[in-house]
Amino acid sequence: MTSSTPSLFKPLPGAHSANIDIFFNGQALSVPGGRSVAAALLAAGVSRFRATPVSGAPRAPYCMMGACFECLVEIDGVPSRQSCMVEVRAGMRIRSQEGARDLPPSVDTDTADASLENAHGR
Ligand code: FES
Repeated sequence: MTSSTPSLFKPLPGAHSANIDIFFNGQALSVPGGRSVAAALLAAGVSRFRATPVSGAPRAPYCMMGACFECLVEIDGVPSRQSCMVEVRAGMRIRSQEGARDLPPSVDTDTADASLENAHGR
């Protein structure tokens, strides 16, 4: 996709949109910055973000606003992250979520990183 290609999705004015390097399932990708992980992966051509626990059917982002949970991925070792609600950052290591999700790592509430919470505070 070139910058002249019409798109429904545009970065916010003033957002940093230069390409950054991330990893998806161990593969290095150059993706546009200044947007969510889901939007960046979609822009890079990723169309399978997770597999359902029962049938293994491929799933991908649907609502892009934190409501459907179809975009769950593992980000930097933390499972079940809503990729549409997390801003992409250089060096992120993202993995597709296969089957039933793992429990999240225990969090020490005294040193908890607020960036690990989703938009619903969970
Ligand atoms: S795409 Fe629906 S919650 Fe992320």
